[in-house]
Amino acid sequence: MTNRRRFLTQSVAASTGVFYIAKTSWAQKSPGDTINMAVIGFGGRGSSHISGYKGLKDEGVRLAALCDVDSNVMSKHVQALDKDKIKVTPYTDMRRVFDDKSIDAVSIATPNHWHALASIWAIQAGKDVYVEKPVSHCVWEGRQIVKAARKHSKIVQTGTQARSSRTGLAAAVKFVQDGNLGKILLSRGLCYKKRGSIGKAEGEQKVPDSVEFDLWCGPGPKKPLSRKRLHYDWHWTWDYGNGDLGNQGIHQMDIARWFLGESELSPVVWSVGGRLGYEDDGETANTQIIYHGYEKAPLIFEVRGLPSVKDGKDMDK
Ligand SMILES: NC(=O)c1ccc[n+]([C@@H]2O[C@H](COP(=O)([O-])OP(=O)(O)OC[C@H]3O[C@@H](n4cnc5c(N)ncnc54)[C@H](O)[C@@H]3O)[C@@H](O)[C@H]2O)c1
Repeated sequence: MTNRRRFLTQSVAASTGVFYIAKTSWAQKSPGDTINMAVIGFGGRGSSHISGYKGLKDEGVRLAALCDVDSNVMSKHVQALDKDKIKVTPYTDMRRVFDDKSIDAVSIATPNHWHALASIWAIQAGKDVYVEKPVSHCVWEGRQIVKAARKHSKIVQTGTQARSSRTGLAAAVKFVQDGNLGKILLSRGLCYKKRGSIGKAEGEQKVPDSVEFDLWCGPGPKKPLSRKRLHYDWHWTWDYGNGDLGNQGIHQMDIARWFLGESELSPVVWSVGGRLGYEDDGETANTQIIYHGYEKAPLIFEVRGLPSVKDGKDMDK
């Protein structure tokens, strides 16, 4: 059964992608109903979490704590919130957030390799969780989140937020599934997003002094930094990311799957691809085709990260 607290938590979580929280009688709250939120990891995406939650004050949500392993990232956001007269408790180690009994729910936007462990620890500590896509670094890890959430009766929502659509996209899916276009023979998803080279570092790179590198690596391997930029470019390395397939592509993949009426993984999958067009420190494919052998109809997905211009001049942008 949904109670107000659950409703708010779910809505808050979805609202980081799509703001659909309704100002209904749910908003008639008592002070005890305030949801205290902590955002964990706010380099790129987590910044939107912060702005999302801080705008939900009237819905009973309080942005109460922030956690990031980069002190520069932290101070930038704490100062900005200060200007808005929002006081947050800063944490470097997420385990201290989970120890904090005043925190009801956490919103996780760390790199992918942390998603599963962070979510499971949060659940075990009694928090509800919003965790960014991809849910986990591998399928097995994701299933452990589900087990933990069921065991501890906690809410976990992830960030393939296209399915939060209540209008346009949902109506289109219904139109297709009602048979208005006939039998579905194939679903195709495309992730055509230009991704330039991340460059090639000469030997081991210095980790910025502002970063607790042990905590950044966490459950991933602790290897010397071998790319120019620690932040963001991990998306293109196997230890911490999974390329644009699991980054931008996962949104379109989920939409393509939604049209098929599927929510599970396909029983058969194969994929072919490579990192083409430039040589850099990235490892994951920038050009890839994935075939999901669903029973109703196959889903064919394509990632293309190279520019369409013939001479490739804008590849480094
Ligand atoms: N749903 C969406 O539309 C959407 C969009 C963009 C990114 N994302 C997801 O958000 C996540 C973050 O991506 P990004 O591009 O912002 O990465 P990023 O590298 O820019 O930011 C990650 C932040 O997490 C911090 N961090 C690393 N380890 C941490 C730890 N143990 N505890 C606390 N903080 C830690 C880093 O210091 C950094 O500030 C990824 O999983 C990505 O897939 C989702």
